[in-house]
Amino acid sequence: MAQFTLPKNSRYTEGKTWPRPDGSANVQAFRIYRWNPDDGANPRIDTYYVDRDDCGPMVLDALLWIKNNVDSTLTFRRSCREGICGSCAMSIMGMNTLACTLGIEDCESDSIKIYPLPHMPVIKDLVPDLTSFFAQHALIEPWLQTETPAPEGEWPQTPEERSRLDGLYECILCACCTTSCPSYWWNGDRYLGPAALLQAYRWLIDSRDEATDRRLDTLHDPFRLYRCHTIMNCSNTCPKGLNPAKAIAEIKKMIFARHT
Ligand code: SF4
Ligand code: SF4
Ligand code: FES
Repeated sequence: MAQFTLPKNSRYTEGKTWPRPDGSANVQAFRIYRWNPDDGANPRIDTYYVDRDDCGPMVLDALLWIKNNVDSTLTFRRSCREGICGSCAMSIMGMNTLACTLGIEDCESDSIKIYPLPHMPVIKDLVPDLTSFFAQHALIEPWLQTETPAPEGEWPQTPEERSRLDGLYECILCACCTTSCPSYWWNGDRYLGPAALLQAYRWLIDSRDEATDRRLDTLHDPFRLYRCHTIMNCSNTCPKGLNPAKAIAEIKKMIFARHT
C-alpha cells in the first residue's frame, strides 16, 4: 500500500489515514485538507481510500462517498452537481475548479489532493469564507439601472445587443478565478478581482443599462481595477471557460476612451 507523506517544509501536519474499503480491487486515494476551528489543532492532511466500483465518476462523487461511508465530519459545499451553482469550487490537484464537473480519471494521480480555494479564510475543511468576495460583487451593483421610464412589457434588446452578453452572463460566481489571481492575493481588500470585474463589464455593455458613467466612475480607482496585471490565471482556471482578463481589459479601454 502506498504511503503518503508531506514535504518537510509543509505548513500542515500529517493527519489520519482512514481504512481502505474492504474487498475492493479498484481504489483511489484522496489527500484532503482538514481544519476544524473548534479543536485548536493545526490544519492536517487526511488520507482516504474510495471504492471506485461503488462511487460515481466525479471528484464530488468521491467526496460524497467519503462523507457517507467513511467520515461524516468531512465538510464541503455543494448543491447542484451540474456546474451551475458554483458551490463546490475548491483546489484540486493545484487547480481551482468545480468538484462536480471534474472527473476522478482526469486527475490522473495515485493520490488526488484537495484543498479549499486558496488565499481565503477557511470556515472549516474545504469551506472558504466568501464574505468579502460577495461584498465586492455587491459593490459593482449587479442589476439593471435605468432612468428612462420602464416600458409596458420587457426592456427591448436586439439579438445583436443580447449576444454581447455571451461569455459574461454564464458566470456562476464560483470564485475560482478571483482566488487564483496573485494581485487579489496581495490586495484582496481593495482590488475587486476578476469575478466582480467580469460582472461589472456584463452590466457596462448591457444595451438596456443607463448607469454606464457612474459604473465607470466607481471602477476608475488605482486598486479596484488597475491592480490587474494581465497575469491570466483567472481565464486559465475558469471552469466555465470564461475570460475575465479580457473583460477587465475592455473596461480599461472604456475608461481610456472616456478620458481622451
Ligand atoms: S468568471 Fe468563471 S471562475 Fe470566475 S467566478 Fe465566474 S464562473 Fe467562476
Ligand atoms: S489577468 Fe488580472 S484578474 Fe486575471 S489573474 Fe491576472 S491579474 Fe488577476
Ligand atoms: S455542486 Fe453546483 S457547481 Fe458543483
